[in-house]
Amino acid sequence: MTAVQNPGKSYYVSTPIYYVNDRPHLGHAYTTVAGDVLTRWHRQRGEQVWYLTGTDEHGQKIMRTAEANGVSPQEWCDKLVEEAWKPLWEHLEIANDDFIRTTEDRHTARVQEFVQDLYDKGEIYQGGYEGPYCVGCEEYKAPGELLDGEGEFAGSKICAIHKKPVEMLKEENYFFKLSEYGPKLLEFYAANPGFIQPESARNEVLRFVEQGLEDLSISRSTFDWGVQIPWDPKHVIYVWVDALLNYATAVGYGSDQAKFESTFPADVHLVGKDILRFHAVIWPAMLMANGLPLPKRVVANGWLMVGGEKMSKSNLTGIAPQDLTAHFGVDAYRYYFLRAIPFGTDGSFSWEDFSARYTSELANDFGNLASRVAAMVGKYFGGVLPEATASGPAEAALAEGLAKAVAESDEKIGERLDFAGGIAAIFDFVKQVNGYLTEQEPWKVAKDESPEGQARLATILYAAAESLRGVAVLLNAVMPRVSGLLWDSLGAEPALGVLADQRIGEAARWGTLPAGVTVTKGEILFPRLEEKK
Ligand code: MSP
Repeated sequence: MTAVQNPGKSYYVSTPIYYVNDRPHLGHAYTTVAGDVLTRWHRQRGEQVWYLTGTDEHGQKIMRTAEANGVSPQEWCDKLVEEAWKPLWEHLEIANDDFIRTTEDRHTARVQEFVQDLYDKGEIYQGGYEGPYCVGCEEYKAPGELLDGEGEFAGSKICAIHKKPVEMLKEENYFFKLSEYGPKLLEFYAANPGFIQPESARNEVLRFVEQGLEDLSISRSTFDWGVQIPWDPKHVIYVWVDALLNYATAVGYGSDQAKFESTFPADVHLVGKDILRFHAVIWPAMLMANGLPLPKRVVANGWLMVGGEKMSKSNLTGIAPQDLTAHFGVDAYRYYFLRAIPFGTDGSFSWEDFSARYTSELANDFGNLASRVAAMVGKYFGGVLPEATASGPAEAALAEGLAKAVAESDEKIGERLDFAGGIAAIFDFVKQVNGYLTEQEPWKVAKDESPEGQARLATILYAAAESLRGVAVLLNAVMPRVSGLLWDSLGAEPALGVLADQRIGEAARWGTLPAGVTVTKGEILFPRLEEKK
């Protein structure tokens, strides 16, 4: 099961594939931005990376939405994918390598093969099921998981996540022998303690599996919007089995063996905590059953909350990311959610908190620093970066600060997915550079016209610009556009190449930015916010 890692293998990260019953909101964008930062970071480590996202288009939820809108499910999906989902990822500068849709032939044909293989191996049998089903979750629920409805739903049992009544279903289904995989899964979790993160998520899954698993209904026969069961076309494959397989079909399962071997399994499946069990229990069991390697990690993020509830379109609390980017810009948007909410815990969005961080951290600490340094190189050296010939302990401390920021952010963002901690480490360094300028007072040193005074002035400004060179490299994954502006303003590109090609491992090499480059003031990185409507 623990195949030897193929040395040519890509670092493979996935987002959940999103239901296209509606437009994306902040909650969906949260995970997708996190995955984008993680994969950009690994690209800058010099690794080969594969970042996958996509859409989940089958099932009753989509079918009913399409019906309610008077169009076919396929038309509905096509419209939403092209008009809402793909444009949002472009807008947020998501650099995904592929976008899989579960209605594509490259997916559906392979899903049928996978399920047929399980059937041929005796892992699937026919039975019947009766129980409460939540169409929002697309999942049969155990009676104990339900809540008593209140108000308009008084007297009904409701889903704890969607807060809507469940439906009683009675169907003839096919079942996957999931119950047989409990002990094997527990053994796998014990041997791979980092498989489920964070710790709270791991504990929840362990408790769930330890209680014993039931077999999983993997087909539905009362509607037809899905992938047909190959040996019994009256049934469609359960939407979750169909959806999970995207992680295999998108990277060549059954169609491109070389691609599959160099990509699969995922290094990180990013998931919301509500869909953890599907990824940490059902998905590995499906893979075990078909003799495929298991993912390295499943990392659950918390929810963005509104008024104490999970933000969602069905609760009418879904905020469109564009409502925020129009005001704060895309870079600040990408920064804010990862900086403000420790990854793995729930967090509330607040306009005031966003504005406060924008002004103090981005505009004042970072943006002003960049523009002051460029302005001083312009004023005192005609925009040509001078050489540092009089370095001392203060510059050594800066170089050390940069090295610390690189090491900490690499460990936190690149390994632990602690985005908030990693970004904080970079911004501690930004603060250190501000402190350095306050102490060194280059504007006063500039008045000393002696050669020693001029050499100190040159050294201070070089050190500040060189620090910003490091900051641009480290922030590129989080804020690619603004970091690119900074890179341009430092005149770094002709000498050092494009920003995205700068390696994290070399970011701390002090003295990388060559003296003599042209430093320009450029666009303001974080303009003052407009008054809110
Ligand atoms: N289609 C399934 C996933 C299949 S993956 C093989 C699905 N789709 S979803 O669109 O409902 O949700 C996708 C992801 O968005 C989930 O990880 C979910 O946790 C996340 N979020 C939805 N609302 C959210 C918040 N308010 N906050 C953070 N993430 C949330 O489930």
